[in-house]
Amino acid sequence: MTSIPELPTGAFRGYERNTLQSLEPDDELTKVGPGEPCGEYLRRFWHPIAMASMVSDLPLRIRRLGEDLVLFRDKKGKYGLLHLLCSHRNASLEYGIVTDRGLRCCYHGWLFGTDGTILETPGEPASSKIAGRTCHGAYPVVEYKGMIFAYMGPPDQMPAFPHFDTMELPDDEMVPYMVPSPANWVQMFENGIDPYHVSFLHSLMNRVQFQANLVNLPTVDYHERAAGNGVFYTSTRRVEDFLWFRVHDHMLPNFSQNGGMHIDGDRSTYFVRTGLTRWVVPVDDENSITIAWRHFNAETDPHGRGRKDLCGYNSVDFYGQTDQRTYEEMQRDPGDYEAWSSQGPRTVHKRERLGSTDRGVSLYRRRLRNAIKSHARGEAPMLPTDKVTSPIPTYGGDTVLRVPRSNSEDSQAISDMAKRVADIYRSGDDLVDAERREHIRSGLRSYEADLQ
Ligand code: FES
Ligand SMILES: [Fe+2]
Repeated sequence: MTSIPELPTGAFRGYERNTLQSLEPDDELTKVGPGEPCGEYLRRFWHPIAMASMVSDLPLRIRRLGEDLVLFRDKKGKYGLLHLLCSHRNASLEYGIVTDRGLRCCYHGWLFGTDGTILETPGEPASSKIAGRTCHGAYPVVEYKGMIFAYMGPPDQMPAFPHFDTMELPDDEMVPYMVPSPANWVQMFENGIDPYHVSFLHSLMNRVQFQANLVNLPTVDYHERAAGNGVFYTSTRRVEDFLWFRVHDHMLPNFSQNGGMHIDGDRSTYFVRTGLTRWVVPVDDENSITIAWRHFNAETDPHGRGRKDLCGYNSVDFYGQTDQRTYEEMQRDPGDYEAWSSQGPRTVHKRERLGSTDRGVSLYRRRLRNAIKSHARGEAPMLPTDKVTSPIPTYGGDTVLRVPRSNSEDSQAISDMAKRVADIYRSGDDLVDAERREHIRSGLRSYEADLQ
């Protein structure tokens, strides 16, 4: 005989908390279209918008920063990025014909140059004044190492191309990849500035998805960077006789560099550079792309575990970044993709309860909000190229020092050491390339000797 169920007792605040459903997303940080404060701020920077491998002999329809656009390469090899709809009568230029000097609309044959100049209007009389005008929307684009970058702001404010120092490392192969996600750019970017999720999501919750030595919660310290508006952080863990200082670098609005993808932290390494140079670029308010180079070299991947062949469109050689798994696989072993996408297309900040592990997230939001506000007041945004000579010094990568255990090793002692490591990194800010790397590496070696 079935007995009458005993009723559960407990707090059960579902009904009460339904009121949270009416809270709105944070428009100031998440609306990216033209005219929006955030959208206008973002339009003052160069952004990678596609991989060169995506551009064939056909026009490529894309949406970036909430704008529908067409990217193409004319028959002379020049890239163009035009507003999608034809200036004549709005036919989509994704059906246009690529010529040797621009893109011709399929409907009535108007020809647009890569800068938006209307070159030909074949149905109009020779006396027509339409051709020769530059009224079609176009943006400047450049190709660099397999990626296409665009600047979508006012031409008279176009900044220098951000040439980061890890774009020219010796014996380094940079392989582009690009992954779309149905989520606002801010919540995707925040994944990288939250080093604590690495221990939980990637280690403790289900299984070790990345390096086993990332399982312990790190001591995290944030350090001001020389150029641009941003910080780099050290997440420091003990691995037997070593301290592993894993450095991630972040610059507003959307640039970041990870530590190595295949460093284990169990032997001395000094200022080994990043495994990933990455941007999160808004498609629109509710969709974004991660677009990045994976770096393949013997320093950042001493055991040769990386897989270049897996890097491309919607594919990369590390776990949990794409939607290319079954729902059950996603549920049983979620990765970053499930975390940031499941927050919703535009996560509602007012529903959150930020804690001590969210310091990086809070710091980033505060800075982003200030940057958007000050830009809206008419101040020039802080650019990556400000205050430094090219190439722009970056910090992402790993340092592992042999540090004997001591009885007084608490998180404050580890923070003090991390600050010292950060100071050594910054002491090379005025140097470039090999000279900078050697300066920092020798500083770290002598600091390690001091610690014995
Ligand atoms: S709509 Fe494009 S040429 Fe007429
Ligand atoms: Fe992650």
